[in-house]
Amino acid sequence: MTQVDVLLGLQWGDEGKGKIVDVLSPQYDLIARFQGGPNAGHTLEFDGKKFVLNTIPSGIFNEKTMNLIGNGVVIDPIILKRELDNLRAAGHDPVGKGKLVLARKAHLILPTHQLLDAANEQKMGAGKIGSTLKGIGPTYMDKTGRNGIRVGDTTLPDFKERYEKLVQKHKEILSHYEFEYDLAEKEAKFFEAIEFIKSIPHVDSEHFVNGYLKEGKKVLAEGAQGALLDVDFGSYPFVTSSNTTTAGACTGLGIAPNKVGDVYGIFKAYCTRVGGGPFPTELFDETGETLRAVGHEFGATTGRARRCGWIDLPALRYAIMLNGVTELIMMKADVLDGFDTIYACTHYEHDGQTIDYMPYDIITVQPKPVLKAIEGWKTDLTGITSTAQIPAQLNAYIEFLEKELEVPIKFLSVGPDRKQTLTLK
Ligand code: GDP
Ligand code: IMO
Ligand code: MG
Repeated sequence: MTQVDVLLGLQWGDEGKGKIVDVLSPQYDLIARFQGGPNAGHTLEFDGKKFVLNTIPSGIFNEKTMNLIGNGVVIDPIILKRELDNLRAAGHDPVGKGKLVLARKAHLILPTHQLLDAANEQKMGAGKIGSTLKGIGPTYMDKTGRNGIRVGDTTLPDFKERYEKLVQKHKEILSHYEFEYDLAEKEAKFFEAIEFIKSIPHVDSEHFVNGYLKEGKKVLAEGAQGALLDVDFGSYPFVTSSNTTTAGACTGLGIAPNKVGDVYGIFKAYCTRVGGGPFPTELFDETGETLRAVGHEFGATTGRARRCGWIDLPALRYAIMLNGVTELIMMKADVLDGFDTIYACTHYEHDGQTIDYMPYDIITVQPKPVLKAIEGWKTDLTGITSTAQIPAQLNAYIEFLEKELEVPIKFLSVGPDRKQTLTLK
């Protein structure tokens, strides 16, 4: 029997998961998204084309790979339909080719979930989470509150009544906010999209994935967001509403923990965050602006500018521990090409003491990062195709990180294209 490899983000999301899943997908029979929803934006580039996927797993461009949207994902039918319509217009039809299936137990994002997200954020004012406003939090709340509507419900005769019952509840909650809304147009689109998603095969993801393993087939679980946005272990309450860590792959697909194989942890050679919340190594100066400009650090889903800073090793060590990472993948090294000196946060200082973990109350207690200077490589990495071309200073940075993090770096990414990926080990 084979095991499920897991690939997930170790920072605050947008590490480059989509690109690497696409690169690795030829080695797998099944790619399975296990949590999150269309708050994700996973970018893939190849043959001069660029695609951003929100709900659909990043394995769809590989002819032989099956793709599953697992039970742990929350699905907005309108967005899923739009994603598939756009793909079809670009000549890709995973549904027509039988390359995409949906978990019956995945929960649906209703238009009113989005309204609740927006009403809540509006009320929070300056203290808002900075949600993507895709309705993620309210949908997971209805899931754990046992009110939710699932993909499998769409084929039941009383689907409409179930929908109306939940919407009524949402309207009652919305009446407590000073929030104006118009539901009619969204609702019409929602029901059109529901009809469409009925045409995608519905499966029990637990049986589906375990069936693949029994047949000795290879499965890769694709994470969304990142470890520091995990609802339990992230910078709460500035987090998303799912478990973004390896454990989330077990509950989000229906696989036992002993079925987890390799865990690929992805990180940027620096660090970014979009939305509110603590970010100890954030740079508010010109250097931060340079990282944003060179790295095109603007959200794939919302277009918002991403906050930028240096790599945070205590945070990465924490993420590695939580996820049981067996191999690291370093992304966007090319963004640092122009720097004479780069920096890595090795630990924090707080109250005159040295600490190497994020304090519980990281919102009011702001740990001061202690930075180590590292010589830059001042070389254009974007065209390199072999490890022999890696400049000595970058090799030194890689060695330094491997020593600090105690996990080998297996892949190095030097540009957004599929081809700009080097295998180090
Ligand atoms: P994801 O959410 O983890 O899949 O990441 P996003 O797609 O949101 O953000 C990563 C961004 O960086 C996308 O615009 C990618 O095209 C781009 N990208 C990925 N790898 C590299 C790289 O090695 N270098 C550069 N310059 N860009 C990259
Ligand atoms: P990918 O998969 C980066 C952030 C939002 C906000 C917080 C909560 O592309 O890496 P939510 O909409 O979940 O209620 O927002 O989480 N966030 C992400 N940041 N990448 C993502 O996904 C994100 N998904 C959510 O900006 O701070
Ligand atoms: Mg993203």
